[in-house]
Amino acid sequence: MKVQVTAGKLKDVRADALGVGLFQGAKRPEGEAAALDKALGGLIARLIKAGDFEGKAGQTALLYPEAPVRAKRLALVGLGKREELTLEGFRKAAGHIAKLARLVRARSLAFSLDGAEALEEPRAEAAQAAAEAVILATYTFDEYKTDGEKKDKKPLATLTLVAPDRRGLKAVKAASAEGRTIAEAACFARRLVDLPGNTHTPTYLAREARRLARASRKLTVRVLGRPQMERLKMGALLGVAKGSSEPPRFIVLEYKGGRAKEKPVVLVGKAVTFDSGGISIKPSQAMEEMKRDMAGGAAVLGAIKAVAALKLPLNVVGLVPATENLPSGTAFKPGDIITASSGTTIEILNTDAEGRLILADALTYAKRYKPAACVDLATLTGACEIALGKHCAGLMGTDEALIEEVKEAGEACGERAWPLPLWPEYHEQIKSDVADVKNIGGRGGGAITAAAFLAKFAEGYPWAHLDIAATSWVTTELPYIPKGATGYGVRLMVEFLKRRAASS
Ligand code: BES
Ligand code: MN
Ligand code: ZN
Repeated sequence: MKVQVTAGKLKDVRADALGVGLFQGAKRPEGEAAALDKALGGLIARLIKAGDFEGKAGQTALLYPEAPVRAKRLALVGLGKREELTLEGFRKAAGHIAKLARLVRARSLAFSLDGAEALEEPRAEAAQAAAEAVILATYTFDEYKTDGEKKDKKPLATLTLVAPDRRGLKAVKAASAEGRTIAEAACFARRLVDLPGNTHTPTYLAREARRLARASRKLTVRVLGRPQMERLKMGALLGVAKGSSEPPRFIVLEYKGGRAKEKPVVLVGKAVTFDSGGISIKPSQAMEEMKRDMAGGAAVLGAIKAVAALKLPLNVVGLVPATENLPSGTAFKPGDIITASSGTTIEILNTDAEGRLILADALTYAKRYKPAACVDLATLTGACEIALGKHCAGLMGTDEALIEEVKEAGEACGERAWPLPLWPEYHEQIKSDVADVKNIGGRGGGAITAAAFLAKFAEGYPWAHLDIAATSWVTTELPYIPKGATGYGVRLMVEFLKRRAASS
């Protein structure tokens, strides 16, 4: 999608649809919308007076304006109460408008930034938010539909953000371009997740990583196969992979945007390209959804893609352990004891607790970089959704400052994460009678005992863990998130890294 910025009057904007936000409680349109309403002979004011539009957050209305207004359609969206508008509220408003524009098959959409003047955040941030939301809201996954009728053949092609004046226009333009880059990277990750398990195999993900590396001179890729994993004694990753004839891959992406000696930030993403549970097999109910068990890996690939495109002045490493988890005659079994690359022995009590195993070897691999910080993203536990619901990821780790940093980045970008405790008592729950640790921790605190397990391997560097089991997928659409893969983690990691780059 092309994203551009213009400054001027709303009545002069040419587009298939012009989106304008209105606040709740106003008797008539305010600001730039007031001038537009005047050009329309009070059409919007009449709509409000008739009681058909109150400006409640998320409310929409479609009007067909006449000259001198140049836009073909006028799409109104409620912004809620002026004093309550947040950046996330503005994102949602842009998302509603984008969906409405797609419904009427608009090819060009203009969106007024005027309502965002009520925000604390600068206009540029609102422009970034709007660009992101429009691109995120109009994402579709229809490449497997062979019936042309069902495909959106004329998707939204241009977004024009309309600023009320030229103040800070350069920054607004730069921010909207950034928003576009970041949202496109999130959609790249979404697609990888939405692809079926028989397509997005470990080999496929490795190929995608290679393609990313080709697009930037500062990006290099290395892909480890079984022989290299054996040399590194990655018994945990290899243990999970044993049940599948699909070969595992360990993807290493290195982005060098910082000084040569600067310690990198390492991002680790779980990529179980299909999780059947293995011998501890899952119920068949909704098992198809477990194709999404590679969302952490996809988010890491997406984040690296954005970081390279934005040329962030940082060193960043992406590690993606990728495998299937299937039952077979060669699969690992409950009761098995495996040895991870750190030398730690693990008693397997449930082969469905496989994510933490492949992450164990990845977190050990991370050590060689002496990371300035390491963040892992993983669809790790159903228990995380029980604890926190779908509105945020679970956030745990060994470094309070890093946890706080991730939490704040999440609040700013609309991908929230919330801390859970990681007290010593939780570590007790994963002690094994026969090995160093066991791979499950009993009934209580499942998201936390999974993190406690990871902590055994994330030693010697600041580490945070995001359990994205709940946030990486939605079954009911949200204002700027269609059904299916959400791309959660891409925007969060890019925001986190941008903040690091700005303060270093
Ligand atoms: N991939 C699942 C977690 C998951 C569940 C992700 C639902 C997305 C949606 C993970 O590998 C798993 O199976 N975890 C088990 C852990 C248990 C065996 C200790 C779980 O959550 O039930
Ligand atoms: Mn599992
Ligand atoms: Zn899993």
